[in-house]
Amino acid sequence: MSAPDSRFVRACKALPVDRTPVWFMRQAGRYMPEYRAVRKRHSLIEICKNPQLAAEVTITAAEYLKVDAAIIFADLLLPFEVMGLPFHFSAGEGPVIESPVRTADDIRRLRTDSADDLGYVADAVSKVARHFSTTLAVIGFCGAPFTLASYMIEGGGSRHYIKTKNLMYSQPQAWDELLGKLVAVTSAYARAQVEAGADVIQVFDSWVGCLSVEDYRQYVLPRTTELIASFKTSGAPIIYFGTDTSTLLASMKESGADVIGLDWRIPLDEGWSRLGNSGAVQGNLDPVLLFADWKHVKAGARRILDQAGGRPGHVFNLGHGILPETPVENVRALAEYVQEHSAGATSFSRSVREGGI
Ligand code: CP3
Repeated sequence: MSAPDSRFVRACKALPVDRTPVWFMRQAGRYMPEYRAVRKRHSLIEICKNPQLAAEVTITAAEYLKVDAAIIFADLLLPFEVMGLPFHFSAGEGPVIESPVRTADDIRRLRTDSADDLGYVADAVSKVARHFSTTLAVIGFCGAPFTLASYMIEGGGSRHYIKTKNLMYSQPQAWDELLGKLVAVTSAYARAQVEAGADVIQVFDSWVGCLSVEDYRQYVLPRTTELIASFKTSGAPIIYFGTDTSTLLASMKESGADVIGLDWRIPLDEGWSRLGNSGAVQGNLDPVLLFADWKHVKAGARRILDQAGGRPGHVFNLGHGILPETPVENVRALAEYVQEHSAGATSFSRSVREGGI
């Protein structure tokens, strides 16, 4: 860990801070001209596998936006390769898994002994951590078992998750074996990122919101809890993020994560209340709002800060990642707005003013 006392890490632990920390999912991406320039010369996978380039892309985005944390540039699906499941990105289609996982035999063949081959991500983390030292927190990340399994089984993105749910219902043992294997690999992978200097780990369960509460609790929560427990001992706080999760929030909290990510569909205060108003929350501006005039963006940000009410444990973010065509100046202005307009509004700054600290 490189910045354990930063305001971002403190907020993840629901400790008081001087102002609300802010960062953005997909803050290094195609909306940014600097990133597009690198992508002209290198494929996405080339950037991910080159620690120098991955570190540069990470650092450039965080410094340009002046955010409170840098998320390591990588991709959710990188562990597939070391499990023996090649994939590529096809223009306009997104990720394509060449031979999707469909049977118990396919699952049996997946490897769990080569997580070390993802060492290039930890190498990039250590370069970023060295660059920022204690001045900025570094976020490592991995996929959650459900979302990763859905890509493996569907062979790419999906609308209804028919093959995924079908395998889950019809072959529950094979399904659980698959999730167990994903936990083994992602647990080692995330741990290596913490050892390399990541201050916080975000677990992306982007598509878990397609499940009913009952199915989530039966087929997914036990393995997700196991994953989170396995790197809790590293001491790094864990953010657990999904979309369309309003009905799942209370169950997601049982995973043991320190911070729960909220998407934009639920008011931040209502989401927090479904979590028992305990622990920390991250979110939750609609990423599409960034396409609107600045006055609308500002009003949306203001509303979220008001809903958080200066309580310890709010990390400002979008409700999902920045979209490719987003106006870059709105993203930068949003970070600045949150930083300026949350100072003095947190309970920490109030108690400093009142002489309590
Ligand atoms: O947040 C960051 O700045 C760090 C980088 C990051 C990337 N992928 C780089 C990337 C992160 C955190 C991810 C996670 C990821 N990857 C997720 C979970 C996050 C989420 O949005 O819920 C998922 C589902 C993936 C798989 C994936 N990778 C998809 C669906 C796509 C989109 C394909 C497309 O063409 O739009 C990607 C590609 C990808 N990963 C891009 C970036 C910057 C954009 C494509 C590019 O540069 O060519």
